[in-house]
Amino acid sequence: MRVFFDLRAWSNERLTRVEQALSDWVIDDAPAGLGDAMRYAVLDGGKRLRPLLVLAASEAVQGNDEAALRAGCAVELIHAYSLVHDDMPCMDNDILRRGKPTVHVKFGQAQALLAGDALQALAFELLAPDGEAVPAAVQAALCRLLARAAGHSGMAGGQAIDLASVGLALNETQLREMHRLKTGALLQGSVMMGAACGTCDDTARGALMRYGAAMGLAFQVVDDILDVTADSATLGKTAGKDAAQDKPTYVSLLGLDRSRTYAQELLQESLQALEASGLADTQALQALAMMVVDRDS
Ligand code: IPE
Ligand code: IPE
Ligand code: MG
Ligand code: MG
Ligand code: MG
Repeated sequence: MRVFFDLRAWSNERLTRVEQALSDWVIDDAPAGLGDAMRYAVLDGGKRLRPLLVLAASEAVQGNDEAALRAGCAVELIHAYSLVHDDMPCMDNDILRRGKPTVHVKFGQAQALLAGDALQALAFELLAPDGEAVPAAVQAALCRLLARAAGHSGMAGGQAIDLASVGLALNETQLREMHRLKTGALLQGSVMMGAACGTCDDTARGALMRYGAAMGLAFQVVDDILDVTADSATLGKTAGKDAAQDKPTYVSLLGLDRSRTYAQELLQESLQALEASGLADTQALQALAMMVVDRDS
């Protein structure tokens, strides 16, 4: 049975902590304007879905709060860096992100490249603090999970497939693989990083993996849908870019109706995985998956 859960109230309290921590940790004293570009890329915008997933998963396994806050911010820094690079002229060539000019438009291409580099490094620094607050084994697990989700077998690998696929008609298996890597990996990684902040048995871990995979894929299916159905002002980024750049998407492969149906099927798959997890408190994870599929930006 699903009881009412107030996601907005749950999120607001956590978002305040995340925003404060990001503002504290993304320093503005990096040399030669780099700090300004880093802060511009990270602060003041974004749904912060990945940090919320980390915190929700950590709470489901009674995780270490300090580790979870650091993990949530670290994954958001990787995400922000991926957006900065994704928008550059050599990739998607976008001028609008989170309702503002993109980082390379505002600061130039070289600074955008460096801001991405520096944010990636800072993400791993956050995961390995001095002192006893986060046990060394947890630090190592978080670094391993984030590195895998961000690198060649995750986001960066998926972005390579994305660029190599312009103008191609991918089949469903190929498209799923591209989306699983470029977007799904970091979202599933967020869930597993949250889980790594506490302890859970193999059943729960496997269920969270399945939840993360289904929810992460649903996220990119919906991103493809919104690119067609939403306007730039609502999205905070340029609508209609996928068709204009001849990118293979779920909408180009299946059409809008079947894409929407597929997103709903993935949502059900993610919720069933949570039910099979044996974890007592998965309401926030449930609500976040529903939000992923039922969002307008
Ligand atoms: C956009 O991600 C990029 C993709 C991975 C599709 P989000 O929709 O989570 O972007 P923000 O963080 O809210 O700006
Ligand atoms: C980008 O996918 C995924 C990333 C790894 C940044 P998109 O190129 O579809 O993301 P948007 O639509 O520009 O946010
Ligand atoms: Mg892209
Ligand atoms: Mg893009
Ligand atoms: Mg998109």
